[in-house]
Amino acid sequence: MKTPEIKRNNFKQYLKSTQIQGLELPIGLQELLLAIGHTCSKLSHEVSQGALIGLLGSAGTGNVQGEVQQKLDVIANDLLIDGVKNCSELAGLASEEMELPLPVKGIGDYLLLFDPLDGSSNIDVNVSIGTIFSILKKQESKKPLQTSDFLQSGRNQVAAGYVVYGPQTTMALTLGGGVVMFTLDKVSGEFLLIKDAVEISHSTKEFSINMSNMRQWAEPVRRYVEECLAGIGGARNKDFNMRWIASMVADVHRVLSRGGVFMYPWDQRDPEKPGKLRLMYEANPMSFLVEQAGGMSTNGKELIMDLVPRDLHERVSVMLGSKEEVTLLLGYHSED
Ligand code: AHG
Ligand code: MN
Ligand code: MN
Repeated sequence: MKTPEIKRNNFKQYLKSTQIQGLELPIGLQELLLAIGHTCSKLSHEVSQGALIGLLGSAGTGNVQGEVQQKLDVIANDLLIDGVKNCSELAGLASEEMELPLPVKGIGDYLLLFDPLDGSSNIDVNVSIGTIFSILKKQESKKPLQTSDFLQSGRNQVAAGYVVYGPQTTMALTLGGGVVMFTLDKVSGEFLLIKDAVEISHSTKEFSINMSNMRQWAEPVRRYVEECLAGIGGARNKDFNMRWIASMVADVHRVLSRGGVFMYPWDQRDPEKPGKLRLMYEANPMSFLVEQAGGMSTNGKELIMDLVPRDLHERVSVMLGSKEEVTLLLGYHSED
């Protein structure tokens, strides 16, 4: 049943009316965000068609990370490139699925980074997946694009967000003044505002981690999870619930919606890698959203937003969500 009495702003109206530090959002940034929204609404339709349009299964190719690409990884990547390439202020883009950045115009104000399809292992089993994006300002807008232009800390992001393709298609967005959410109205094809001032509760009774890696974790993470599992009779003195969707985008959406802590920490399976998730395409945009919603995000030692990237495809250990839990995790790591 619809609720026609609520007049909701659409994405375009929201961007037009938003002010950052008393200033209107630059037109070039509005144009880029609208192009991302438009592309994700198309992608949402493709995702919902699945096998009907031959979209499930492997593409038979690998990406720069050495991971097998699903058909939808490739389709989503191509759709996003096509959707944003004519944006007037977009200098270039970088994607989890491409080794090198693509200099769209080479010069201009903005750089776009994205994970076109997050949660690839869930595509074929019809579980929520999504798109994650991060926008940086190009420091020297008139010089030709270089990879080093992208290597800026998360603090420099001017916008970040995700679109989760679940029972509803929902976008979370931050422009640095809090977090808002929109749901795609599939009849009109428009994202409509459903929540402003999204806030993550400071305390929680829910944690999210792939428990099958437990024996591989470092001591502080093992201690934290063991204490959660001990429940009311243990050090935490409360019972915890656990959830793991295996799509960061859907797990973080739950954390933004009802609190919790999400972890994909370093583990011993591949000790040389700092973690599984990617700093530029996953951890930075999610950390910006989480901080803007009153939560915290760390790699165990530092806030993720403060890390200075050395490589476009750098990986990182991630622990984010409700402040009390992330503070505890930071404390356990500092004792290590
Ligand atoms: P991607 O599909 O973009 O490669 O990312 C998958 C990531 C992330 O979304 C999720 O939290 C994690 O991988 C799941 O990993 P496990 O399968 O090891 O649980
Ligand atoms: Mn991902
Ligand atoms: Mn991906």
